[in-house]
Amino acid sequence: MTAYEDFYRRSIDDREGFWAEEAQRIDWKTAPQQVCDYSNPPFARWFVGGTTNLCHNAVDRHLEKRAGQAALIAVSTETNTEQVYTFQQLHAEVQRMAASLLELGVQKGDRVLIYMPMIAEAAFAMLACARIGAIHSVVFGGFAAGALASRIEDSSPKLIVSSDGGSRGGKAVEYKPLLDEAIAQSSHKPSAVLLADRKLTTMKIVAGRDYMWSELREKHLDTVVPCEWVDSTHPSYTLYTSGTTGKPKGVQRDTGGYAVALAASMKHIYCGNPGETYFSTSDIGWVVGHSYIIYGPLIAGMATIMYEGLPTRPDGGIWWSLVEKYKVTVMFSAPTAVRVLKKQDPALLTKYDLSSLRALFLAGEPLDEPTAQWISEGLKKPIIDNYWQTETGWPILSIANGVEEKTSKFGSPGVAMYGYNVKLLDENTGDELTGAGQKGVVAIEGPLPPGCMQTIWRDDERFVKTYWNSIPGKLVYSTFDWGVRDQDGYFFILGRTDDVINVAGHRLGTREIEESISSHPNISEVAVVGIADALKGQVAVAFAVVKDASALVDDAARAKLEAEVMKVVDNTIGAVGRPARVRFVTVLPKTRSGKLLRRAIQAVCEGRDAGDLTTMDDPAALQQIKDLLA
Ligand code: PRX
Repeated sequence: MTAYEDFYRRSIDDREGFWAEEAQRIDWKTAPQQVCDYSNPPFARWFVGGTTNLCHNAVDRHLEKRAGQAALIAVSTETNTEQVYTFQQLHAEVQRMAASLLELGVQKGDRVLIYMPMIAEAAFAMLACARIGAIHSVVFGGFAAGALASRIEDSSPKLIVSSDGGSRGGKAVEYKPLLDEAIAQSSHKPSAVLLADRKLTTMKIVAGRDYMWSELREKHLDTVVPCEWVDSTHPSYTLYTSGTTGKPKGVQRDTGGYAVALAASMKHIYCGNPGETYFSTSDIGWVVGHSYIIYGPLIAGMATIMYEGLPTRPDGGIWWSLVEKYKVTVMFSAPTAVRVLKKQDPALLTKYDLSSLRALFLAGEPLDEPTAQWISEGLKKPIIDNYWQTETGWPILSIANGVEEKTSKFGSPGVAMYGYNVKLLDENTGDELTGAGQKGVVAIEGPLPPGCMQTIWRDDERFVKTYWNSIPGKLVYSTFDWGVRDQDGYFFILGRTDDVINVAGHRLGTREIEESISSHPNISEVAVVGIADALKGQVAVAFAVVKDASALVDDAARAKLEAEVMKVVDNTIGAVGRPARVRFVTVLPKTRSGKLLRRAIQAVCEGRDAGDLTTMDDPAALQQIKDLLA
């Protein structure tokens, strides 16, 4: 066996011994008494009896050795600002934020929703919640009022931290009116809203509810807020993600298991060392932002770059200039971003001194070979794909060069990571597929390793039903991804088994988009599918049936309605969910029992064979779509 195979086997066969060792990478107030309690599957409780604190591990514990070293580097090419916070300064800011939250009534276990652009205050807010044992729920700043309202409703936050606005491509984007609208739509009302005013837009302040961060900060400049030691299993945060139904799921994460998992991944997978700089181009609204902008790098004692802006402004060399300036050693991005950069002047890749950089990690969507090849040749650095999910919090598949150097196989995100007992299963029989080249559902045998979701927020039943009961006859976690494995154990991911689509690395539920579109008064029915796209991986395309066909008299009328429908999506979900096209049909392809045949529509749109259509109710429906495309 190779070194990694050995390491991997031990993580599965001697789970307790393996993770007991990894647990020593973080500080505990009280040492755990039990490594893993799996007496009530599929609910795993990691490091039972241990008490710790995420903020302590990310910030306080580094003060002794690296108080004066950079911790958070906030760069905005939107406002042309750059600010470096040392661990000492970050410690102070986080305490000011924590003191403000406490003053506004937030207690341990309360939820705090964070709806913010990529500014340092967002990091302060996340860490401040962790510090006092409050559960944060970050909502991506690109989401609009409807999506935000459903997350407010489900997480019922005591307080919301937000901002007047963000900026994109040099244009201010208002957040505050969307937040006000979302609170109005939600039956749950937060008792306070704490606002970081960037003076990008003018805010309407709600007296008695809205507070200014600048004022509270001033008041708490020197307030000391000690870390609240919480049980290892205490929830650190919830993060909403899309699934098959229209209602997003609140993925709930613990504290101790998450800290251990991140510390281990920084060592074994990302190979980042204390005192170095990590640069992840994601957004704090997504899981990559949680694990590898905020918590992972900081727990490892690294400086982390938070970047607000486009990858192409002022030019396509901006990220590489940051690598040079801050001597980034580990970088993390998404394939779509690389495809965007591929359209820029290739000279930008060699313009800067990238000698500090050891590897570029890519995740979030399939990494196609040409893209991997291009960036690998351009940077002359290892390009490391990694496959995981909001639910898991850290990589399921990759290569662990901290354990043993391996080269990636382009097109494959790699092998099963330690701790994950990954299986390929037959979707109908649940049988394990062990042969090379056999296609099956990527599944993980319980218990999920530390750092993965504990449950769905306030919905244990849905957690079990959604993730663990989807393969016949087996209590096993389904990723809802198709995969195959080659003879060397390298996996290849072949797309989702459910109605989730992936647009530019953003995970979206087609049902959510359908629900949004259906709220247009003239839409009676709609099917949304993800269609392959050279730049974004996939784009959403909607096929809609109208109530009153007189709205479609000519091309101009059709274009008008299409724009209206897009606007509805912009206003409810946000521009991330906007379909690339809305096409109008008179009937949608369905089975005789009335189920929408989204897969058949998708196949036809991608020029593939629509497969077995014997259960289709009205073949003319699919023909109409074919005719439209022709
Ligand atoms: O379909 C897989 C795809 O993105 C889904 C998870 O998205 P999200 O919850 O946003 O988490 C992203 C964390 C990096 C997966 O179910 N996916 C993610 N990474 C890859 C991928 N597909 C192929 N290759 C990847 N490296």
